[in-house]
Amino acid sequence: MTQFKRRKFLIAGAAVVGASAIAGGVAWWYRARRAPHAGMETGAAAFPNALRLPGSSGVLGVMDVAAPLTIVARSMQYPILEGKPGPLLVYQVEQNGKTWVNPVFRVRSGTTVRTKLQNAVDENTIIHWHGLEVDARNDAHPVYAIAAGAAYDYQFPVRNRAGTYWYHPHPHGLTAKQAYLGLASFFIVEDDEELALQQALDLKLGVTDVPLVIQDKKFDGDGRLLYAPNEEEKVNGYVGDTVLVNLTPRPYFNAATRLYRFRILNGSNARAYRLAFTRGGRPLEYVVIGTDGGLLDRAYPVKEAFVAPGERLDVLLDLRGAAVGDAVVLQSLAFDPMHAEGGMAGMAMDHGAMGGQGQSQSPHAGMTMGGEARGAPAAARGAMLPDGAAIDLLRINVTSKTAYGARVPSKLSTLAPARAADVKPREFLLDLKDGRWRINGETFEMEKAPVTVQRGANEIWEIRNDKASMPHPMHLHGVPFRVLARTGSPQQLKPSVINEQGLATTDLGWKDTVLVWPGETVRLAVDFSHPYPGDQVYPFHCHNLEHGDQGMMINVKVRA
Ligand code: C2O
Ligand code: CU
Ligand code: CU
Repeated sequence: MTQFKRRKFLIAGAAVVGASAIAGGVAWWYRARRAPHAGMETGAAAFPNALRLPGSSGVLGVMDVAAPLTIVARSMQYPILEGKPGPLLVYQVEQNGKTWVNPVFRVRSGTTVRTKLQNAVDENTIIHWHGLEVDARNDAHPVYAIAAGAAYDYQFPVRNRAGTYWYHPHPHGLTAKQAYLGLASFFIVEDDEELALQQALDLKLGVTDVPLVIQDKKFDGDGRLLYAPNEEEKVNGYVGDTVLVNLTPRPYFNAATRLYRFRILNGSNARAYRLAFTRGGRPLEYVVIGTDGGLLDRAYPVKEAFVAPGERLDVLLDLRGAAVGDAVVLQSLAFDPMHAEGGMAGMAMDHGAMGGQGQSQSPHAGMTMGGEARGAPAAARGAMLPDGAAIDLLRINVTSKTAYGARVPSKLSTLAPARAADVKPREFLLDLKDGRWRINGETFEMEKAPVTVQRGANEIWEIRNDKASMPHPMHLHGVPFRVLARTGSPQQLKPSVINEQGLATTDLGWKDTVLVWPGETVRLAVDFSHPYPGDQVYPFHCHNLEHGDQGMMINVKVRA
């Protein structure tokens, strides 16, 4: 089949899938055929821990930002693995006699946020608000990192539209370690369109609108987090062998027969996920309603989606057609991680074992976490869960029946189409030299800005990833962008492609992080207008946090 015909075919397929998923939950549910040994690999016993849900305080508690508040970055003893408390770095907030740990901040668009960071960690740190359109000082470029014992004041209006943003540390060279050891949570912005959707679908944050942060970790025998990347892990990124959702290992979530929203954040240092909701091992259709910078124009049905470190995916799962006793597993399907493409330069289009199998490929083609040895301690399973392995992330148990008549609105938001300025693209090349990843031959220098942009400029950025490379989730601070086109994509992206520009659903809407595969060229439209006086310097970096810390980052100066 020619490339063109194949793409057409995929688009037609997606459209049909869409009609049924949006029409209602019943039809699609029963179309997912039961696999012969359904339940064996993903049975309830494999998910013994209740998913930690955002409550009104405590760990991941929801905190409505109104009054000024103080965030203390500190270490605490916390048992991620049951009965094994170990040190965890956290953001702690006290207010009105209650304590929040890594609070899920919730803010109305237009609100002015006033907060103080108190550094009670024994090294430099600083909070960066990932995705927020703030000035450089509030964005917290690494140059603003503060010493142990020091404090930093933030004050900024939330200019962003509603969306699932997040926050984490950004002291250069320490970002990966501190984020890995626990410092990260959500920053949820709401506006009228968002509140209308919540009302239409009867969504409640922490109950039926569930933030999910996915993070892979390594533990020592005493349940303490281990962060010690060797030279190879500094080049590839540090991946763990235990994947947590909301700091919960092997979690389950009890659900009713209705629609659920999951705001998924890949908060892992280096691991990407190919997300699918499966039943009896077969991927179901689900619906993408938003990406990094909030709601899309409408709901887009998918069966899988790649989500790289730093990216968010806002989805709806329709359980109306399910029966009590059914279960759905949120999985990462096996994929080719395309590490160390050096030996395979030039083969990116027809790559590895995954290539060519397309949609018929079994989600269990790769190694599944646990596998036959499920329930055995991590050491017995083998210490490594390779990047690209199939992973069971979360089991959703349908435990109660409920009447639910809401329908997904045909229009979700007023999202203007992406527009490309008629200008010569600014080019970026991602490559590896002497064991260090580079952007246009540069590695990070705190005081140097290899790129200067005029404030107000509409630019096209063309990011090309070397063929002899690995995937890089590229992130720009302060200035959201739109993804215009992808070319040279690997075969395994094909089931996700939805248009003639080669885009996946995860590329739609406002983005702040975009995954660039080896051999790919990705075009962005970036609008540098903002209201801030004076020059603003924003980092542009890889969100594989080891890559960023190793210097895969440059300063972009927006000249006033
Ligand atoms: Cu989420 Cu500069 O990062
Ligand atoms: Cu950021
Ligand atoms: Cu990278």
